[in-house]
Amino acid sequence: MDTIEQRSYCIIGELLFLCFVKCDPYIGKKSKFTEREKGNFRLNSKGMRHIFWLILLLFLSEACTNKVQLSRDELIEQKVDSVLSLMTVKEKIGQLNLLTSNWDVTGPTIRKDYEDLICQGNVGSIFNAYTVAYVSRLQKIAVEETRLKIPLLFGYDVIHGHRTIFPIPLGQSCSWDMDAIELSDRIAATEATALGLTWNFGPMVDITRDPRWGRIMEGAGEDTYLGSMIARARVRGFQGKSLSDTSTMLACVKHYAAYGAVQAGRDYSTVDMSEITLRNVYLPPFKAAVEENVATVMTSFNELNGIPASADKFLIDEVLRKEWGFKGFVVTDYTSMEEMILHGYAEDAKQAGLLAMQAGVDVDMQDLIYVNYLPELLNEKKVSIEQLDKAVKRVLRQKFALGLFDDPFRYCSETREKQVIYAKPHLDAARDMARKSMVLLKNENQMLPLQSKGKKIALIGPLGGSKHDVLGSWRAAGEDKMAISLLQALKERQGVEINYSKGCDINSIDKSGFAEAISAARQADVVILALGESAEMSGEASCRTNLNLPGVQSDLLKAIAETGKPIVLVLMNGRPLVLKDDVQYPDAILETWFAGTQAGYAICDVLWGNYNPSGKLTVTFPRSVGQIPLFYNMKNSGRPLSESKFTSKYLDESNSPLFPFGYGLSYTSFKYSDLTMDKQEYDFNEDINITVNVENTGKYDGEEVVQLYVQDVVGSITRPVKELKGFKKVNILSGQSQLVSFTLTSDDLAFYNSEMNFKAEAGKFKIYVGTNSQDVLETSFVLK
Ligand code: NOJ
Repeated sequence: MDTIEQRSYCIIGELLFLCFVKCDPYIGKKSKFTEREKGNFRLNSKGMRHIFWLILLLFLSEACTNKVQLSRDELIEQKVDSVLSLMTVKEKIGQLNLLTSNWDVTGPTIRKDYEDLICQGNVGSIFNAYTVAYVSRLQKIAVEETRLKIPLLFGYDVIHGHRTIFPIPLGQSCSWDMDAIELSDRIAATEATALGLTWNFGPMVDITRDPRWGRIMEGAGEDTYLGSMIARARVRGFQGKSLSDTSTMLACVKHYAAYGAVQAGRDYSTVDMSEITLRNVYLPPFKAAVEENVATVMTSFNELNGIPASADKFLIDEVLRKEWGFKGFVVTDYTSMEEMILHGYAEDAKQAGLLAMQAGVDVDMQDLIYVNYLPELLNEKKVSIEQLDKAVKRVLRQKFALGLFDDPFRYCSETREKQVIYAKPHLDAARDMARKSMVLLKNENQMLPLQSKGKKIALIGPLGGSKHDVLGSWRAAGEDKMAISLLQALKERQGVEINYSKGCDINSIDKSGFAEAISAARQADVVILALGESAEMSGEASCRTNLNLPGVQSDLLKAIAETGKPIVLVLMNGRPLVLKDDVQYPDAILETWFAGTQAGYAICDVLWGNYNPSGKLTVTFPRSVGQIPLFYNMKNSGRPLSESKFTSKYLDESNSPLFPFGYGLSYTSFKYSDLTMDKQEYDFNEDINITVNVENTGKYDGEEVVQLYVQDVVGSITRPVKELKGFKKVNILSGQSQLVSFTLTSDDLAFYNSEMNFKAEAGKFKIYVGTNSQDVLETSFVLK
């Protein structure tokens, strides 16, 4: 903008603000307004409103779109300042307090007095409360009984759908389909906001390389590049194009940071890692979310290199705010402020509050520490009023962005609730996402699709009839009664006869159901075995050391295999399992994760070939728990595996995974050839163009995720053996070929070096392109 333009925008902006001040009861007045006063005020300001509209028209015709956006932010800023100037210290601190209602339990503490606390102006946001009726009731307390009538935010863990449940995020990531992932969260937000929610505690973007950790189900797997793309898609999905749209909500990227690397895969445990690994592997998805304008960030429970994340000034103040320019607010995870005492980092709650404040934490989830101790800390001048104001402003900004000051009840519409919950397009999208998430791990002799493999089906296994487990952990407001079990979908399927026998429970040693299951198998043409984990075996506080099929399920599989009947194993689980001893028995294995509300239909779509599977693993399946952590983008050692004794290997297990990252079969087959680069040497500012020919050599049309990996052969610090740097999901008709191209720039080759500079280094790079991280074609180039 030149200076003249700048000046005219300022004048117009000021005029607009003056009109707003005159029209808007929330600003420019120092006293509290009654509803009647507000009404009178509105009537008296008719003339002003005309002027306002005139100026607005002038402004819109003058300004180009991005300038209007700037102006909206400025207006919000002015309103925020104005509200802030009316607030007492107690009211300010209240805005930094987030409490759970007693509707849902997502942590160790619960309180009953939250309504009183709202009434006293001690609460800025509530979580675990939804439905139009309930949210309206609590919002009413805030806007009718508190002095400044500041509306509440309503938060919840909408992790994979709200009522219509989509596959667990780990499953969704296996679709490698960013549009479908974005859509699933757009729908989740549409449903959640219809029930009054305005703030989602997601996306969870923790990279993890440890399947023992139960929260692996909540994220996008082990890869940083894919995880960052998914983080962006999810933020877009929840926040939409503008937060002023009532179908959008604040997203909250979590858990900041490195929570996925807890020692021994045990939840809430310690993380100790180099800054190089932190920046190259664990932080990029958070940075991507910030670049996508995520509104809020949640700290993690773990300590990182000796400092609990909720007190980590480096993470919050230096990296998130100063380096990445994050403008939203930071919230602690559930009671993690108080937990600093047990970490051995704070003497008492007051000190924990001080440390959190100093680190840059704005909102206190469920600890009441800010409410209880910030007044003292302010009096003692340990926290300044400027610090407090900054935090309060960050919260108020988001409330304005959501339009809550204009209408605190704008997210509460029974009509919208009726229209959107379980709407047909939502169910269709959930079914589509579920099919896309499934990964075909084995398909001997083209066992699948089932089409003409017989019509007598024995469905066996504890997960076959479950409507509960298919929703997975963190199912938000999902309802078992609305879920389609595999049994139900099979019963509804034309042309098949179903005989169901559970065989055993998910996690018990009782084999008394085996005889019936074996008899059912004997009478069938094909056995579908539905085995896996219960929904509660993954998610928060659900870690395992034994990743086998729980209970006696492996024995059941073996017993059924002895009947000699063809077996399709349908897996339902929230993490990679150790299936080394099981894979030999079934003819086909379909990994369905926990596929959500439409699970049963989606599984049948895949089994009968109404959908040709295209999912690819986003996490490595180990052969043994002893190999963990096992991930594709590891470093080489100085003594890589070989026949010789003194090399990096196990005496009792191979180094290789059972199923590698990126792996997944299709009913058709793809042949890769002609991996070509346009040059052999590139300057730093040149595009690096790579093409590969992919041919569908099978008899079905199918989708393939073509994966591009890079290895920086020699670096100033050692680099992984391979890193995903691109992928394309292509649909290729049977018998046809497609030329798939990728363009890399030197930025794609950059990494944080030991000086924490992010840059690419000259030298040789290997390029690998293929159907998974192991089966690849190879070429190379030099960056100079
Ligand atoms: C604790 C979990 O770690 C976090 O992900 C969640 O958002 C909060 N509880 C609130 O339920």
